[in-house]
Amino acid sequence: MRDEVVRQATISAEIVKIAKQDAAAGPTRTGHPRRDYAPYRSSLLRHPTHELVRVDPEDVERLSPAFGHTDVDILESDLTIQHTGEPLGERINVFGRVVDGEGRPVRHQLIEVWQANASGRYVHKRDQHPAPLDPNFTGVGRVITGDDGEYRLTTIKPGAYPWRNHLNAWRPAHIHFSLFGTAFTQRLVTQMYFPGDPLFALDPIYQSVTDPAARARLVSTLDHEASTPEISLAYRWDIVLTGPRSTWMESEDAHD
Ligand SMILES: [Fe+2]
Repeated sequence: MRDEVVRQATISAEIVKIAKQDAAAGPTRTGHPRRDYAPYRSSLLRHPTHELVRVDPEDVERLSPAFGHTDVDILESDLTIQHTGEPLGERINVFGRVVDGEGRPVRHQLIEVWQANASGRYVHKRDQHPAPLDPNFTGVGRVITGDDGEYRLTTIKPGAYPWRNHLNAWRPAHIHFSLFGTAFTQRLVTQMYFPGDPLFALDPIYQSVTDPAARARLVSTLDHEASTPEISLAYRWDIVLTGPRSTWMESEDAHD
């Protein structure tokens, strides 16, 4: 049987319907995404249906990766210098602070990022989107937060790309972030977006965070003062790990 073709209008209508339900629910909203969010089609099949299995964190950490501060080179925070030539696209800086719920800096933590190139293409065998790869851009970087929880990356503004949630589904431009914590079992993963993206309203992943205030915290802000003149624009994005104003983090099975 052929799969039914689902159009953007259908997905958008579902997004609006759920948003109205959640707005009506008011105080019960958590700021976290719905795990079985119907407009995000694959979430219906792969969201957890049982309580998580609890394991001893010490056992997990014996088998898990670890890193030392000397393992991360300062140059890894610049995704534009990993090859012999300059990558194509709009050079940007992304910077901010990682803080806890009380605003205290989260120091010396490993941040990992991965993203599509300026054409919206990942260097990954599963990404067969017919946009060009850039031989001068891999799209992965790492940085360790400083004494005030600060971080700074240099990269290329990623392009939007199509995915197969429904007919002609496009993801807003985004950068994936992983925050390692002090142990592997604390790792958190989320996405940063760019201000004013017209694809926000259409994207079921962005909209699966049904609290508008929580969604807004995933969007960086253009900081002209922090730009490098004639070289790059700068986007500020602060990450709050805990508390009512925390940055939404995705479940382990979401990776689009
Ligand atoms: Fe992505």
